[in-house]
Amino acid sequence: MGLLNLSLRNFRCFASAELEFAPTLNLINGENASGKSSLIESIFILGRGRSFKTANLESAISTGTQGFQIAGQVSSLASPVHIGLVREGGQLKAKIAGETPTNLAQLSETFPVQLVDSSAHQLIRGGPRCRRQFLDWGVFHVEPGFFPAWRRYQRTLHQRNVLLRAGKHEKEIQSWDGELIIQGEILDRYRQDYLSKLLPTAIAWTRWALGGLSLDLEYQSGWPSDQNFSEALQGAITRDRDAGMTRLGPHRADMRIQIDGKAAQACVSSGQEKVLAGSLLLAQAAVYHLLMGRPCTLLLDDLAAELDAGHLSRFLECVVETGAQTHITAIESSPIIMSHVAKTFHVKQGKIVQVV
Ligand SMILES: Nc1ncnc2c1ncn2[C@@H]1O[C@H](COP(=O)(O)OP(=O)(O)OP(=O)(O)O)[C@@H](O)[C@H]1O
Ligand SMILES: [Mg+2]
Repeated sequence: MGLLNLSLRNFRCFASAELEFAPTLNLINGENASGKSSLIESIFILGRGRSFKTANLESAISTGTQGFQIAGQVSSLASPVHIGLVREGGQLKAKIAGETPTNLAQLSETFPVQLVDSSAHQLIRGGPRCRRQFLDWGVFHVEPGFFPAWRRYQRTLHQRNVLLRAGKHEKEIQSWDGELIIQGEILDRYRQDYLSKLLPTAIAWTRWALGGLSLDLEYQSGWPSDQNFSEALQGAITRDRDAGMTRLGPHRADMRIQIDGKAAQACVSSGQEKVLAGSLLLAQAAVYHLLMGRPCTLLLDDLAAELDAGHLSRFLECVVETGAQTHITAIESSPIIMSHVAKTFHVKQGKIVQVV
C-alpha cells in the first residue's frame, strides 16, 4: 500500500508534523507557500535519499534549526518497515528497520516512489540523461542484477576516462574495454527487456490519456545500431583519445519518443507534454506493480495546473488503475480530484490538518 504514516521535525516550514495516510489517494491542499510541495518532497526524500528540489539537503533544514528528521512506516509483503532519516552536521543518516543501509539504493528498494511534478516535461524536452534516468528507475526496481552491473560499468568507465584524459597509450586504455563491454552489454540488454515490458502499457495509457494519440518508444543504445558495443568502442578509440573521454556506450543511451509518427518534443502542446510524461511515469508504476506484486507510491505535485477537465479526469483514471498509493497536491479541491480522494489534508503555514 505504500506509506502508512509520516513524521517530520524541522523540515522546511514544518517544525513538527504527524500524518496517517490512506492506502489510495491522499489530497494535500492549501494556498501558495503553505507547504504542499515540501510535504511531497519529504516523502520523496524518504524513498530516494535525495530531493527533487535541491542538490543540497542543507537548504531543507528549517531556518534557525540544526537538522531535520523524516520518518515513516512503509508497508511490505510481511510486516511494516520503519524508515528514519536524519540530516545533521552536513550528513544524511538513514535507518531501515533499525539497521544502517549500505547504500541509499536500499531506500528505493524499501520504499519506491515516483514523482510527477512541473519538471516532468523534461522527460520529453530535456536531454538524454532524463530519459536514461526514467528507464533506469524502472529497470532498477524490477531487475536485481541492474544496480551491480551499473556500478561496475560506472567504475570501469571512470578508469578508462582517466587514462584517456591523461593521453595514455591505446593499449593501456583498451585494457579496460573487456569489462566495459561485458557490463555495458548487460545494461543494454536489461534496458531493452524492460522497455519491451513497459511499451504495451505505455502505448495504451498514452492513447487513453491523450485522447487517441499513438505513442512509440525506441531505445537507442548509445552506439551505432549496425555495430555491437565492442566494434563501436574499437572504431572510436582515436576520437575518444582526442576528446579525452569515452563517447559511446550505455552512458550515452537515449529513448526516442514519438507521437503519431513525429518526434514528441516537436509536436505536442505543453499540457499534452505533461500528460504524456505523466502517462509514461504511471505506466512504469503499473509495470512495477505487475512484476513485483506490490504497488509503488506516486507523488503528483500540482497536477491540475495546465490540464483541462478532460485530460485531468482521464489522467486520474490511469492513476487509479496503477493501484499505487497516491499523494496529490492542489491549491483548490476540484470536483474531479475529489471524486477519487480517500483522505484530505489541509496545509496552512506549516501546520497540517486532516479534513476528511
Ligand atoms: N528551510 C526552510 N525553512 C523554513 N521555511 C522554508 C524552508 N524552505 C522553504 N521554506 C518555506 O516553506 C514554504 C512552503 O513552500 P512550498 O514550496 O512547500 O509551498 P507550496 O504550498 O507548494 O506552494 P505553491 O502552491 O506555490 O507551490 C515557503 O514559504 C518557503 O519559503
Ligand atoms: Mg508547490
